[in-house]
Amino acid sequence: MQILVPVFAVLCSCPVWSKHLEPDQDTSVPEEWSHAGRLAPSDRVELTFALRQQNVDRLRELLKLVSDPDSPQYGKFLSLEEVASLVRPSQLTQKVVQNWLQSHGVKDCQSVATEDFLQCEMTAHMAETLLPGSEFHRYLNGQRSLVRSPSRYSVDEEVSKHLDFVGGMHRFPPSMQAVSRAWANGKQREAGFHLGVTPKVLRTRYNLTATDVGSAENNSQAVAQFLEQFYHPADLSEFMSLFGGGFKHMSKVDRVVGTQGGGKAGLEASLDVEYIMSTGANISTWVFTNPGRHETQEPFLQWMQLLSNMSAVPWVHTISYGDDEDSLAAAYMTRIDKEFMKAGVRGISMLFASGDSGAGCRHLTKGGNVFRPSFPASSPYVTTVGGTALRNPFKMTYEVTDYISGGGFSNIFAMPDYQVSAVNDYLKTMKALPPSTYFNTSGRAYPDIAALSDNYWVVSNRVPIPWVSGTSASTPVVGGVLSLINDQRFLKGLPPLGFLNPRLYKLLGRGLNDITEGCHLGCLDEQVEGKGFCAAPSWDPVTGWGTPNYPTLLAALLD
Ligand SMILES: *[C@@H]1O[C@H](CO)[C@@H](O)[C@H](O)[C@H]1NC(C)=O
Ligand SMILES: *[C@@H]1O[C@H](CO)[C@@H](O)[C@H](O)[C@H]1NC(C)=O
Ligand SMILES: *[C@@H]1O[C@H](CO)[C@@H](O)[C@H](O)[C@H]1NC(C)=O
Ligand SMILES: *[C@@H]1O[C@H](CO)[C@@H](O)[C@H](O)[C@H]1NC(C)=O
Ligand SMILES: *[C@@H]1O[C@H](CO)[C@@H](O)[C@H](O)[C@H]1NC(C)=O
Repeated sequence: MQILVPVFAVLCSCPVWSKHLEPDQDTSVPEEWSHAGRLAPSDRVELTFALRQQNVDRLRELLKLVSDPDSPQYGKFLSLEEVASLVRPSQLTQKVVQNWLQSHGVKDCQSVATEDFLQCEMTAHMAETLLPGSEFHRYLNGQRSLVRSPSRYSVDEEVSKHLDFVGGMHRFPPSMQAVSRAWANGKQREAGFHLGVTPKVLRTRYNLTATDVGSAENNSQAVAQFLEQFYHPADLSEFMSLFGGGFKHMSKVDRVVGTQGGGKAGLEASLDVEYIMSTGANISTWVFTNPGRHETQEPFLQWMQLLSNMSAVPWVHTISYGDDEDSLAAAYMTRIDKEFMKAGVRGISMLFASGDSGAGCRHLTKGGNVFRPSFPASSPYVTTVGGTALRNPFKMTYEVTDYISGGGFSNIFAMPDYQVSAVNDYLKTMKALPPSTYFNTSGRAYPDIAALSDNYWVVSNRVPIPWVSGTSASTPVVGGVLSLINDQRFLKGLPPLGFLNPRLYKLLGRGLNDITEGCHLGCLDEQVEGKGFCAAPSWDPVTGWGTPNYPTLLAALLD
């Protein structure tokens, strides 16, 4: 019997030559999101187009030069305008993309100073014809509503050469946030006995004296938050009145960029602000907050675009955000990595939490387990912060590994030069390494540095909450310390630290308390029995080089 090809199949409006930009992007819907129907053709969506940049090799080279203390160009950072003239997409790229959008009726677009992102509003119908294969659906999770495409999109092959990816299609907000163990097993834990981490504990442990606070005129630091939660100014001032004794500090955030959500304050949001302002005391603090204004936005991507559109931003940014590397498209991660380079050449320090699942674990479909690196922690162009715990939670003796501290080796990014010898030393001298099939020794290894991540006190919704833990606590603590060092550099007329890693690895641990005890979590299987990597003298993939000892770290970084 002959099967007739239906005529409409031939007349399909799909371009014959169309290409997936992110074929390896996970398009599954996380289980906490429930389906709430397909968008009507006239519903509006907002998508982000990442245009292919120019001179990326030059950008990478420049970042090396301005971040390497032995280079004559050390600290000679670029302005946003200079970055723009370097990476701005070619005339051809801009024309091809614009013509393509216009020919589909997409007119409502906004660009950024570097011209490498376009953010456009259009109807769902226009988006679905522009991006064959895509289909826009709404998903709900509690109060939140998002629009995503559960099927892959493609673009015209001619256009695909000029785009890195399209944002707003597949990625759901990852959940990485501080956890309070205060109500473990439904029972409130006794808070009175243990020491608990407060600004005083941190300042004592990291050797900050009462006068180690910021005083330079134009110094500033920022926390960026992408969850549907916000910090409450009243919580911050209550936190400072409870715990801010003994050092000069600010009790107010200087600037909020973006939209603070309504409703209750979040633990994570309160934590970040309260602690960056405790180590980075008396330093102007900004909060970038973007829970996703539009249902199709990706809040993290919105923030990256904002950085490319603001010529003056704080020098240090701390971010508690991460997702499994294997759930993200390589094209997406590679492009975001270039955004980190753009920030680095401007002298901006980007600090990311290393994650709270130790080495992580991924079950392969073909059987067996491997560790599971997290991104952006695994990017070679950010400084990744791990976590430690006090050996004795009732006394301030010394620090050991916090078993949750994220760490490991990237499967996407090759090991950068600055860390090759430190990482190889670890691999060579460490006797009890996990089986080599669990991790990729050619990849970027993290974290780079660490701080306490266990048992913090946080004020949220006017209530002091104990037992708050996670690398989202250690990251703002290290951020504040770097801001203090920037401050001293500014007072001496020096430029900021910028991208720290090339210099950090050259210190060989000088100015840091080496953490040498304990292991973090790994796969719960017979081969590794719940263990990932273990800490060791010098650098290790659990706590990096260790935790800051402010006076010696400052001395090592003050030229
Ligand atoms: C970037 O800034 C310009 C000028 O302030 C503004 O017109 C534009 O909308 C901004 N771009 C985005 C994507 O917000
Ligand atoms: C810093 O702290 C450590 C441990 O808390 C201590 O041993 C050391 O003497 C302190 N001072 C300096 C300048 O390192
Ligand atoms: C706090 O910072 C301001 C500048 O923002 C400075 O004038 C002041 O002296 C600082 N306070 C202390 C105690 O250093
Ligand atoms: C601080 O910033 C202002 C405005 O950008 C500038 O005029 C001033 O010179 C800066 N001060 C210092 C000490 O860099
Ligand atoms: C190991 O990492 C490299 C990057 O350094 C990557 O190219 C390679 O695909 C990774 N291998 C696996 C099995 O993921």
